Amino acid sequence: VAAAPSRTKRVLLAAPRGYCAGVDRAVVTVQKALDLYGPPVYVRKEIVHNKHVVTTLEKRGAIFVEETDEVPEGATVIFSAHGVAPVVHEEAAALKLKTIDATCPLVTKVHREAVRFASDDFDILLIGHEGHEEVVGTAGEAPEHITLVQSPDHVDEVTVRDPEKVVWLSQTTLSVDETMETVRRLREKFPKLQDPPSDDICYATQNRQLAVKQMAPDTDLMIVVGSRNSSNSVRLVEVALEHGSRAGHLVDYADEIDESWLDGVTTVGVTSGASVPEVLVRDVLDYLAARGYEDVTAVQAAQESLLFALPNELRRDLKLAG
Ligand code: F3S
Repeated sequence: VAAAPSRTKRVLLAAPRGYCAGVDRAVVTVQKALDLYGPPVYVRKEIVHNKHVVTTLEKRGAIFVEETDEVPEGATVIFSAHGVAPVVHEEAAALKLKTIDATCPLVTKVHREAVRFASDDFDILLIGHEGHEEVVGTAGEAPEHITLVQSPDHVDEVTVRDPEKVVWLSQTTLSVDETMETVRRLREKFPKLQDPPSDDICYATQNRQLAVKQMAPDTDLMIVVGSRNSSNSVRLVEVALEHGSRAGHLVDYADEIDESWLDGVTTVGVTSGASVPEVLVRDVLDYLAARGYEDVTAVQAAQESLLFALPNELRRDLKLAG
């Protein structure tokens, strides 16, 4: 007689989850700039796409603006982790702003690839989401050479000048599987399509998706902590549902969890996007523990140890300040 399946409530906790090296660097950049220069410090766009991070920094004196021309002349402005187009640097110089560039080095890498392939006169097919700040920044490096491809279904519409000279690049925070499907269809259409010199979807995006893929088949409900405008967080919910999780929800805070989601649920998966502080995950675990989900097992899909140095401009000023 087969043993009855265990109905003990439990949590599977993804690892890695939460902060990536680029987010950590960007958030510390704003904190250190506030310490060093004193408030206010201006930040163009949300420094990272997380509501809690932004409101916490606002309380310390950061002022978030949408565009550079909202910053008073001569003030200090930090560019967000998602990167900016060259024109934004020009606008800041015209306004005599002191700039600190917190663009993630892995986004800068994609910018450099775009510049290089454009100077070799390639057509660049940039896979990404229209309007996302990172895509706007990357496309701004070579607008004449870049065509945005949003999904596999958009491949049919893509045209190029010379099918012998085409390369694809991508946003860093996409679904790995969907991107590969887009590339497969692009290559059907353009057999000479070149790959990027190295993965554009970053290690953090890949690892967080990998952990979710491992957990999803055993999970009745996946709770992803993250904000709606966080591309990599939204992708984690999609990946969970595609890989067998019966339900999946994105929450900024534990108090957004609807208790009815737990009806009949034995195993809850928990993870968080790359811009999410761990304290928010702890709150979700406390919420679940209070409802009988006290047994927490980590699912470790990869180890991460990457760290990025702070932006040069800030390091120099920190050094001068002793
Ligand atoms: Fe950079 Fe990837 Fe994080 S591009 S900001 S390491 S999600």
